[in-house]
Amino acid sequence: SKNYKIAVLPGDGIGPEVTNESVKVLKVIGEAYQYNFQFDYGVMGAEAIYQTGNPLPDETLELCKNSDAVLFGAIGDPAFDNNPDAKVRPEQGLLKLRKGLGLFANIRPIKTYASLIKKSPLKREIVEGTDIQIYRELISGIYFGEKFTEENGDYAYDVCKYSKEEITGIAHLAFQDAQKRKKKLTLIDKANVLDTSRLWRKIVKEIALEYPDVKVDFMFVDNAAMQMILNPKQFDVILTENMFGDIISDEASVIGGSIGLLPSASIGNDNALFEPIHGSYPQAKGKGIANPIASILSAAMMLDHLELTQAANKLRESVENAIESRYVTIDLNPDINYSTSEVGDFIADYIRFSERSYYN
Ligand code: IPM
Ligand code: MN
Repeated sequence: SKNYKIAVLPGDGIGPEVTNESVKVLKVIGEAYQYNFQFDYGVMGAEAIYQTGNPLPDETLELCKNSDAVLFGAIGDPAFDNNPDAKVRPEQGLLKLRKGLGLFANIRPIKTYASLIKKSPLKREIVEGTDIQIYRELISGIYFGEKFTEENGDYAYDVCKYSKEEITGIAHLAFQDAQKRKKKLTLIDKANVLDTSRLWRKIVKEIALEYPDVKVDFMFVDNAAMQMILNPKQFDVILTENMFGDIISDEASVIGGSIGLLPSASIGNDNALFEPIHGSYPQAKGKGIANPIASILSAAMMLDHLELTQAANKLRESVENAIESRYVTIDLNPDINYSTSEVGDFIADYIRFSERSYYN
């Protein structure tokens, strides 16, 4: 059987609790399909600052570089958010990790589940059938341009830069995905104002010639924010730069009724990282109420990436079964709510009992 080295970074807040459930479920997948997963743990985020002073210790970066995939929980701690003078912040660890691993494409699928649509802030007829794949550039743009704050604190800037190469890689991934889907790609930008956006448009138009079956349209980000709640079904694949993608994906993430369900993948040429879209939710830390499904679906994206497609599909089926059986945490079902680990057990058991190979 094949060996896979998985680096596990539980991180802050509810990160450890939800990541535990993913590891639990992956162990069962490993038994059922005869895959050898090796889990190696590393520290990152606020937890790492408390232990080492560094939000991303070198050992953790090395561990991730030497892995086949990284499973990450969440990052963030109110102790830092409320302290404007903090010199190091948990978030720096995540940005450094993305950059250090060259994870240029962040993929965020926005899906809806029939039984949860009534929890959406939008009307059923607007939401039903929404299925969007967001491609957010992750290691350039304003996040990584020069930063400056004058000593008196009254003047600051952040530079937004893009090169052709930084756009090309993610654009190809987005076009290839669009070809497997509804063959529509929307570039979200601000080309009426920004030079970097005009560069994105120029390059995307060139690349589009290689994908003649994909219909491309261009949308300014302010309009896109509005269209996302007016008519989210118009979108298939969205391609966008780092900060617009950060904002639009948070907006899109609540359409389906719960942010606790949404996974993400961050892909580079040599490494890949998988994490839930939700943050560290510090208020829920240690209470056993966090929804593990976004993390478990991130593990499914990891299986896809490792080309373990059958196992990935089985994992998604087991999650859908939990949702349709209403075997879920309090965010999805306030009446009969199960704990984080009970939901993980339910999903693990489904895999165990539905895989005959487990008994062979
Ligand atoms: C995200 C987060 C991060 C980002 C933060 C924690 C740095 O909001 O993954 O979307 O802005 O990219
Ligand atoms: Mn974000």
